Amino acid sequence: MSETPERERATATATVHCDGLVQVYGTPGLEVTALRGVDLDVAEGETVALLGPSGAGKSTLMWLFAGLIKPTAGVVEVCGRRMNDISGRQAAKMRLREVGMVMQNPGRNLLPYESAIGNVLFAQSPTRRTPKAKRRRAAGLLEAIGLASVAHRPAGRLSGGEQQRLAVAVALANGPRLLLADEPTSQLDLRSAAAVIDLLRAANEDLGTTMLVVTHDPAVGKAFQRTVTIRDGRVGAEGRAGEEFLVVGKDGSIQLPTDLLEVLPPGTLARAVRIPDGVALHRADMDGSGDLDALRGPDSTSPAGGQRP
Ligand SMILES: Nc1ncnc2c1ncn2[C@@H]1O[C@H](COP(=O)(O)OP(=O)(O)O)[C@@H](O)[C@H]1O
Ligand SMILES: [Mg+2]
Repeated sequence: MSETPERERATATATVHCDGLVQVYGTPGLEVTALRGVDLDVAEGETVALLGPSGAGKSTLMWLFAGLIKPTAGVVEVCGRRMNDISGRQAAKMRLREVGMVMQNPGRNLLPYESAIGNVLFAQSPTRRTPKAKRRRAAGLLEAIGLASVAHRPAGRLSGGEQQRLAVAVALANGPRLLLADEPTSQLDLRSAAAVIDLLRAANEDLGTTMLVVTHDPAVGKAFQRTVTIRDGRVGAEGRAGEEFLVVGKDGSIQLPTDLLEVLPPGTLARAVRIPDGVALHRADMDGSGDLDALRGPDSTSPAGGQRP
């Protein structure tokens, strides 16, 4: 794209902060706990891929960040504002001006009777750009994601994959400071997904847009600086350039990343050993010193392979 939009406003930094975030859906007796205490910080300009199995609470997190729902407990701050206290109108204003949102169901992001280019023009309404600049920006975005040929088709008549790409263009149209995107490449072939990833990267590099993207797509994970895994309503593993980070939960629990689960499968008895800069975990049945009976106490029976001294 030839032009980058001007930064419209300079308010607080485009960061995300949450502390002990809990989300319970439903009514007493019929409750679903979607988030069980999420602690997460995203710095200005950072690109974070949110991974995790279906039902882990990823979309719930995105709705909380976008101010579409209010948390049951805990703190959520976005762009320096406490989303717990913000009104629906203020949240809508934030989404219009500084927080771009791509919802998991792409159709929900679009005006179905408006043309593709009309959607991208409308998204720029809060900017002070001239009509000509808006049209240039809209055409540039549609070109970049391969939608130039359907620019005048109503959004509601585009295919699922086309709607998904259009939703990304709409979310980026006015140069948001923070982009929240929920599985933005799930319906795309490799080539279209690559175009979307390029567009996200360009927004981050040119404008410093902070990005938080839910994805199952390894290509998105690779293009981003950091990955955070959500599992069962909590932050599980964190990774950065080949490293794995674990978060120790408030109750002292940790969740191992998948590749380490190959070393310590669920149900393994492990020995925690204090080492100079932390704690090492050893398989108690394989580390030579593994005396399972001693670890399990005097009443336990000898497990298969275990030996009494
Ligand atoms: N509006 C809702 N009412 C009740 N339960 C919900 C609602 N939205 C999501 N859930 C439940 O919350 C949990 C997390 O859902 P979600 O955030 O969509 O996870 P993910 O995006 O990781 O698949 C799931 O068990 C889901 O069924
Ligand atoms: Mg989801």
